[in-house]
Amino acid sequence: MLGLLAPTDPDWVLAVEHDLDRLLSDHAHCELKAAHNALSLAGRFGGEAPELVAPLVALALEETEHFQGVEQRLRGRGKTLGLPASDRYVVALRAATKDDQDVPTLLDRLVVAAMIEARSCERFKVLSEGLSDGTLREFYKELMASEATHYRLFSRLAEGRFGVEATRARLQTIAHREAALASSLPLGPTVHG
Ligand SMILES: [Fe+2]
Ligand SMILES: [Fe+2]
Repeated sequence: MLGLLAPTDPDWVLAVEHDLDRLLSDHAHCELKAAHNALSLAGRFGGEAPELVAPLVALALEETEHFQGVEQRLRGRGKTLGLPASDRYVVALRAATKDDQDVPTLLDRLVVAAMIEARSCERFKVLSEGLSDGTLREFYKELMASEATHYRLFSRLAEGRFGVEATRARLQTIAHREAALASSLPLGPTVHG
C-alpha cells in the first residue's frame, strides 16, 4: 500500500500487545516528531518554496492534535509519557538518502517524510485490524486515514516542486531502501520497531 514494497510482519502485533503502554508512548513521540519535522521544513525551505509553508503549518497542527490524543490515551491507562528516544528506523532512512549526489535536499526531505507517513499508515492499519482492544482498533483506524492523507500531501508537494516524473522515480528508489530497512529491524513494541 502507498508505494510500500514490504508488508509488516503480522507477528509485530504480538510484540505490541505485550507492551501497549510502550507503543503508545513511542507513538506519542512519533506524532510530536512529525509536527517538529513539518515546522523544521517550513523554516528551512519556506524561503525558496513559500508554497510549502501553509500546508506544513496545518500539518504540524494536526500532528500536534494527534500527539494530544495519544498522550490522553496513555494517561487514561494510568500511565505517562516516557522519555523521547531516537527512532532508528527514521535515522537509518534519512541516512539512506545521503550518498546520492545531484538530488535536491528538499526533494529527499519530502520523499523521506512521505515514506515515513506511508509506513506509519500501514502500521496503524495492522493495529486497527489486529489489536484485541476494540477502542484502540477504532482509534488506529482514524489515524490510519490521516497518515494516508499525509503521504499524499508530501508526494503532492514534491511533485509540485520537482515534477511528477522525478518525484515518482525518487519515491521508488527510496521505497526499495525503506523495504530493506523495515524488514531488517527486530519486531518490537514501537511504531517503527
Ligand atoms: Fe499523525
Ligand atoms: Fe502524519
